[in-house]
Amino acid sequence: MANRDIFKSKIGLILATAGSAVGLGNIWRFPIETGQNGGAAYIIIYVGFILLIGIPVMLAEFVLGRHTHSNPIGAYRRLAPRTPWFLAGCLGVFASLLLLSYYSVVAGWTIEYSYLAIINAFDGGTPEGYKDIFNEFVSDPIIPILCFVVVMLITHFVVVRGVQKGIEKFSMVMMPILLVMMIILVGCSVSLSGAGKGLEYLLNPDFSKINNTTIVNAMGQSFFSLSLGLGVLCTYASYFDEKTNLIKSASTIAAIDTFVAVLSGFMIFPAMFHVGFDANSSEIGSSLIFVTLPNVFHAAFGGIPILGYLFPVVFYVLLIVASVTSTISVLEIIVAFVSEEYKIKRQKASIGIVLISIVLGAFCSLSFGVLGDIKIFELTIFELMDYMVSNILLPLGGVFFSVFVGWKLKRQLVEAELTNNGHLHLPFVRVLIFILRYIAPVAIIIILFNQLNILKL
Ligand code: PHE
Repeated sequence: MANRDIFKSKIGLILATAGSAVGLGNIWRFPIETGQNGGAAYIIIYVGFILLIGIPVMLAEFVLGRHTHSNPIGAYRRLAPRTPWFLAGCLGVFASLLLLSYYSVVAGWTIEYSYLAIINAFDGGTPEGYKDIFNEFVSDPIIPILCFVVVMLITHFVVVRGVQKGIEKFSMVMMPILLVMMIILVGCSVSLSGAGKGLEYLLNPDFSKINNTTIVNAMGQSFFSLSLGLGVLCTYASYFDEKTNLIKSASTIAAIDTFVAVLSGFMIFPAMFHVGFDANSSEIGSSLIFVTLPNVFHAAFGGIPILGYLFPVVFYVLLIVASVTSTISVLEIIVAFVSEEYKIKRQKASIGIVLISIVLGAFCSLSFGVLGDIKIFELTIFELMDYMVSNILLPLGGVFFSVFVGWKLKRQLVEAELTNNGHLHLPFVRVLIFILRYIAPVAIIIILFNQLNILKL
């Protein structure tokens, strides 16, 4: 492809890709899942999935993207012309549009919550009060949509600047800030009295809590958190140069993503235990970061003058950063596809996609208020989109990537791509191909069927 942008530096490509992986999945969903599924034992299983299936599927996407230097649909088309394989790419692009729309709605909430933290609105609140603030906000027909539009605009402006000047630069600045902010918050949280109980919960595995649901959830979460299955990683790898060591990059990105997820546990649980919350309590649910945490932060740090104010501010700003580095990766897949396959300028493509996404996202946002009664399969519009993407389209995309690279591509091509044409010595290539052929697709299909209630584990 002529004049295709590439990532300028190794660190840039790692931070940009890790930026996609690190998001609400790490800071919002991971602590909830950990809390609901038995703490450390869940983390061990989660890490197992990252190593056994996550990294191999990530490598499958990398091989496809870097070999073809193309968006996912173009990649399938080039490697399997005149076959229906390109439909697997279409599925990814379609899923990305849905994900971009509903994920950015929640990202928008983090903007409102940062604002509320900055104006000190959480000071002196009561548990009921925090619930009311949240419910009133999400059911409002206008403000959440405005916040969501702000997220879409930031995402748009980063993406139209291009891969090097937009995505790479943005991630090079934002990711280190994110890590530093997190480490400071973890430091504050673990130094609270009673924090030890929270740490123990995160470090002492209780395997009696593990059941089939735990395993299914850990696998789904590892996929979502690594941004697998949609083609984000394939698209980003299409901007890697020939010297990039794919296996090293994948391991580093997975390590950063897992590190941030575990760190967010260290940020949240010690503070929760400090104020007397039980990790299994009903307070750990989807309202964790918007209802429970303002309460926890207030109770834990409220008495400490500057920290009481700064902790929530830094926390919610951190969430904005984490979510926007993810939304840009999702918009990028669709922009890459539209601009490359239809020869439309990136800027025009992005404007069109953002407009469609704003319409879809507005419906999602309104489903917390005026459109709340519209239910499809007993789910609201927002829940339906999340369910379809996280539980169906994402794993399905993962199956297609692993089957395609494991079975359809010539082994020599895969080996050449992973070893940079024989320049790198990689002893695990055979194991990797075995995983992509057998283990990953079978495991993902079992879990997919389980989620769809076709197979009850
Ligand atoms: N990995 C992101 C997160 O953890 C979500 C995401 C999923 C982004 C799939 C892109 C693609 O929040």
